[in-house]
Amino acid sequence: MSLRLRLTLANVALVAVSLILFALLSYLALDRLGLREVDDTLQQRAESVLDSLRVRPEAGVVIAPAEQFATPDTYVQVLGPSGSVVSRSDNLGARSLPIDPTLVADNMAGRTGYIITQVDGGRMRIYSAPSSLLVGGRPLIIVQVGRLLTELDRTLANLRLIYALGTALTLLVATLLSAGIISRGLRPIAEITAVVERIERAEDVSQRVVYEGPMDEVGRLAATFNGMLERLERAFAAQQRFVADASHALRTPLTAIQGNVELLLNGIHDPTEQRISLQAIRQETGRLSRVVSDLLLLAQADAGQSFQHVPVEMMTIVLDVYPQARTLADGVTVSLGHEDIGLVAGDPDRLKEVVLNLTDNAIKYTPVGGQVTLSVYEDGDWVQVEIADTGQGIPPEHLQHIFERFYRVPGVKARAGRPAGTGLGLPIAQWIIESHGGRLTVASEVGRGTTFTIWLPRLKME
Ligand SMILES: Nc1ncnc2c1ncn2[C@@H]1O[C@H](COP(=O)(O)OP(=O)(O)OP(=O)(O)O)[C@@H](O)[C@H]1O
Ligand SMILES: [Mg+2]
Repeated sequence: MSLRLRLTLANVALVAVSLILFALLSYLALDRLGLREVDDTLQQRAESVLDSLRVRPEAGVVIAPAEQFATPDTYVQVLGPSGSVVSRSDNLGARSLPIDPTLVADNMAGRTGYIITQVDGGRMRIYSAPSSLLVGGRPLIIVQVGRLLTELDRTLANLRLIYALGTALTLLVATLLSAGIISRGLRPIAEITAVVERIERAEDVSQRVVYEGPMDEVGRLAATFNGMLERLERAFAAQQRFVADASHALRTPLTAIQGNVELLLNGIHDPTEQRISLQAIRQETGRLSRVVSDLLLLAQADAGQSFQHVPVEMMTIVLDVYPQARTLADGVTVSLGHEDIGLVAGDPDRLKEVVLNLTDNAIKYTPVGGQVTLSVYEDGDWVQVEIADTGQGIPPEHLQHIFERFYRVPGVKARAGRPAGTGLGLPIAQWIIESHGGRLTVASEVGRGTTFTIWLPRLKME
């Protein structure tokens, strides 16, 4: 059963129950009120009859004839002490009011009472009351006054008809209205489903749900869904970009290797040229294996790999990197700046990789004659490792992208003699530092230089 049908049925059922409850209560109340009105008249009439009872010394017990108290729709009947009819109104003709034994027994015991009985003309209400005058312990007379409930019954019958028709009509209208309102309310959900189906069929996440209604539950669902599609679209695009970039990064060295192998096979005979080709192959193979291990490292980053945490002195790491940096430097002066110990907790090999990476960048992107300075500062809760260069700098519009995978500032060339990078160094460095609870920040000015700062939580020995 569809949600639409279920909601409509529930709604209609609710309306039906309320209507029926209302009809039932008002019907019963009306029946009660009508009966009470009749009862009041009957009681007054019976009391008038009883009031007319007189004991006259000369004539004994005298009572006015029943007929005197009757009206066309009110029947009066008087019973004697034995329970037999002694007088009745003319409108009864030859018939008498039905005598209910229980009621008469009650009267004999001095109590008044009402009954409803079925007679030829319909329902009849009868009030029966004993006189207070007794003979031999029993009431002298019992007065019974009856009235047909024709009018009340007719009103109630009309009411039943009105209620039946009204309920049917209201339910019909409620069904139509509910179905309409619910369909309209659920339409965006149907639309979302249609969009999901289209996405599934065409594998196209650029689709969006068009929703122009208010920001209610359904509106929020549509907005959330569109937000999710947007993120999915971005993630897909990023993934495609990553695959394209990764293949490109792998293809470049492979093409170079292939070209050199072809050259060797096609017969270069000069040993010097052979050597140059083989060296190129070695260099490209090295680059290839570096790209592959970088990609593996990033895959580990995506899988949420964590590191060992041992005490590490950042100054020791800098002093470790320093001689290596000097051999790479050719033409750039690498020197040490501020020297604090900088104790942190972490993985020494990974932290060294980061410092080496940033130092390598600094040397690579600084022209001959430039300066690279490595410093370690202890600053409150933090240890800062600063790698500052006097190189070409990074334009502000590119600064926010350099931590993205494969991002390289367009048009920037590494120093002559250095192979082009792949743009994985900084994202890997950032991941390693952030996994150590730290941050990697950069400040740069075009033409003046760049400073990368590694922030790591300082380890305090108790
Ligand atoms: N110290 C720096 N001075 C100027 N530009 C820099 C500096 N460090 C990084 N860059 C710019 O940021 C880009 C990204 O650096 P990243 O280290 O991620 O990649 P890469 O050095 O090109 O390649 P890889 O490190 O993977 O070999 C570089 O291509 C370069 O344009
Ligand atoms: Mg680099």
